Amino acid sequence: MNPAMGAKAPLGRVAAIIPAAGQGKRMGGGTVKQFLPLLGKPVLAHTLAAFEAAACITDVVLVVGDELVDACRNDIVAQYGFHKVRGIVAGGRERQDSVFNGLRSLGPGYELVVVHDAARPLITPAVLERAVAEARGRGSVVVAVPVKDTIKLVDDQGAVRETPDRGRLWAAQTPQVFPFEALLEAHHKARREGFIGTDDAALVERLGRPVYVLEGSPENIKITTPEDLLLAESILGRR
Ligand code: CTP
Ligand code: MG
Repeated sequence: MNPAMGAKAPLGRVAAIIPAAGQGKRMGGGTVKQFLPLLGKPVLAHTLAAFEAAACITDVVLVVGDELVDACRNDIVAQYGFHKVRGIVAGGRERQDSVFNGLRSLGPGYELVVVHDAARPLITPAVLERAVAEARGRGSVVVAVPVKDTIKLVDDQGAVRETPDRGRLWAAQTPQVFPFEALLEAHHKARREGFIGTDDAALVERLGRPVYVLEGSPENIKITTPEDLLLAESILGRR
């Protein structure tokens, strides 16, 4: 009898890419937003702590501005003891370039890649676990929330062209989880064709591969403007 029969296939390695190389123009101020303190700890350290705590994540690659690689290694990764961080690489001009730099720094042998914005520090290990489990069953998964407002599609004069059925609209967040080879192929295709998307799912959608939404939490906000920092503090304070 084959001793492997009935044995479960071992689950593969799951890499997380954390793009943190933005300039935070909408936030303004002297310090880029991913390093601003949130209840006494940098935004990026909150984000990395969720990945450190989620058992499904095996490796983390951090993508930062090239002048901040050393500071990140010392003041964030070493300081807080983030043992899953395998690499700290320099980002690029667009978010998509930063994710690509992280992706190509990974060797082969990964089953899934999780992409998550450094600027979403309220992500929980529980949502990461759910998203990875769902991706194992379905392929590509985007954490999202149902849209609360009615959305208008307008022309360049501001005239409403369409009011899409709100019941089918979702606001995409991160984490977004993909089979490793699908995300790599999607990034290569986008670069070849000069396409820039605002999230990674858009690149995978262009391959014609299905991408599924998974309902997350409205608390998983992206720190974008100063008000978001206050909101994040109040949410964290309540947890
Ligand atoms: N990001 C990145 N590389 C870039 C641009 C953005 O790694 N060239 C990262 C940001 O650091 C952030 C995430 O992508 O964690 C989402 O981007 P966004 O919220 O737009 O951040 P910024 O681009 O920094 O902010 P802004 O657009 O206001 O300048
Ligand atoms: Mg930006």
